[in-house]
Amino acid sequence: MRVLIVGSGAREDALSWRVAASPSCEAVYAAPGNAGTASRGENWAISATDGKALVQACLREKIDLAVVGPEAAIAAGVCDRLREAGIATFGPSRSSGRLESSKIFSKRFMQRHGVPTARAVAVHSLDGALKVLEEWNGECVVKADGLAAGKGVVVAPDVEAARGVVKEWYASGHIPGGGRDVLLEELLVGREVSIFAICDGRAMYPLAGACDYKRAGDGDTGPNTGGMGAYSPPVGFPKDMVDRVRERVLAPVLRGLLAEGESYVGILYCGLMWTGDGPYVVEFNVRFGDPEAQVLMPRVNGDFAQLLKSAADGALDLGTVSFATRACAGVVLATSAYPRSNTPLAGLCADVGLGADAHAFWGESALAADGTVRSTGGRVLTVTALGDDVARARANAYDAVRALAKRLGAAGALTYRTDIAKF
Ligand SMILES: Nc1ncnc2c1ncn2[C@@H]1O[C@H](COP(=O)(O)OP(=O)(O)O)[C@@H](O)[C@H]1O
Ligand SMILES: [Mg+2]
Repeated sequence: MRVLIVGSGAREDALSWRVAASPSCEAVYAAPGNAGTASRGENWAISATDGKALVQACLREKIDLAVVGPEAAIAAGVCDRLREAGIATFGPSRSSGRLESSKIFSKRFMQRHGVPTARAVAVHSLDGALKVLEEWNGECVVKADGLAAGKGVVVAPDVEAARGVVKEWYASGHIPGGGRDVLLEELLVGREVSIFAICDGRAMYPLAGACDYKRAGDGDTGPNTGGMGAYSPPVGFPKDMVDRVRERVLAPVLRGLLAEGESYVGILYCGLMWTGDGPYVVEFNVRFGDPEAQVLMPRVNGDFAQLLKSAADGALDLGTVSFATRACAGVVLATSAYPRSNTPLAGLCADVGLGADAHAFWGESALAADGTVRSTGGRVLTVTALGDDVARARANAYDAVRALAKRLGAAGALTYRTDIAKF
C-alpha cells in the first residue's frame, strides 16, 4: 500500500521508518516531512494542517492510508477532511481530538464517565480564578485550556504561586494556547507513565507503555521541553499495570466515547500518574508522543502499516504486529539554545546510520542541495537503541549518541541529558 505520514518531527521520521519496513508498504510519503523521511520517500511541501491540499495530493498519488502525527493537524480537522474524501486515515476527528486540545473538555469527559483523574475546577476569568484559590489548600496545578506545546501547565507549590501564575496569564492577555479558560487542579503524587492504546472506532487495545523525560536538564531540572528522552517498556510499575489501565481507564473511556457518538480512530495516549490508588489520568493525547514514538517503533515486529490500516478501516487486526520483549531507550540531541529558541543548524552530516539495533530520527529539518542537513527545530535528533533490558538499551543508546555526535559535525552546538533511563 501507499502510505502518507503527516508531520515533520522525529516522531514522524520514526513512523515513516517503521511503515516503510512493513511488508504491505509499497511507498511512503511525508507532508511536509524532514531529512529522515526524505531518505525513504518523497516529501510533499504541504503543511500538516492544510487539509484541503493534503486531500488533493492523496487523491492524486492514490494514497491508501494517511497517518496523522501532530496534535495541531488533528485539532485543525485534517483527519475529518481526509476521511470525507474517502481516504483511510489513522487519526481521530477534530471532535474526538478535544480530549487533547481542550483540557477542560477532557476533564469533564473523564468526570462524566468515571475515569480516575485529579479533582479540578474550570475558571474563565482572573476574578473567578482568585475566588477558587481563596479556598484552596496546598499545591495547585494551573493548566491553560488549549494546545500549548508543553508550555501551558505550571505545578505551583502553594496558593500564592498559583495566584501569581493566573495573574500573570490574565494580566498579560497571553494565556498559553491562546484561550481564556484555565483549569485549577489538585496535585497527584506518584510516578508518571504513559500507555498507548490503539482504537478502530469500536474497540480499544493497549499496545505498549513508555516513560518520558520532560525537563531540559539532568535530574529533572530546568525548563519544560517537548521531551528530552524516553524508554520503553516502563520499569518499576506493578505487573498487572496494563490490566488495571484497561479496566479503570480504557474501558470507561471507550464506553464514554461510544455513548457520546464519537468514533475514535487512532492512538489514545494515556498520560498517567501511578498513585497509591493505581492509575490516575493526568492528560490524554490523541496521537503518538514525541519522543515516545521513537522508542516504541524499534520494538514493533511485523506489519505495522497493516495494523494502522486495519484500525483506519474499522477492523483492528492485532495479529499483524507484536512488541519485542527487548527494551528501547532514546536520547534527544537538542541545540544548546533549546527550549528558549529554535536555532537552525546547517551543514550536518546526513548519514546517521548506526547499525541494526540503533537508530537516529531527525527532528524538523531539510536536506540541502549539497547533501547536508539543515535542522530547523530545537530538537535535532532522537538517538535510540535496543537492549535486552532498559539498562542495556540505555548503555547502547549513549554509545550511539557519542559515536554520532562525533560524526555529525556539530559537536559543540548540541546538548543532551545524560540520565535518560537511569535509575
Ligand atoms: N494533577 C497533577 N498532579 C501532578 N502533576 C501534574 C498534574 N497535572 C500535570 N502534572 C505535571 O505536569 C506535566 C504536564 O501536564 P500535562 O497535563 O501533561 O500537560 P501538557 O503535556 O499538555 O503540558 C505532567 O507531565 C505532570 O508532570
Ligand atoms: Mg503531558
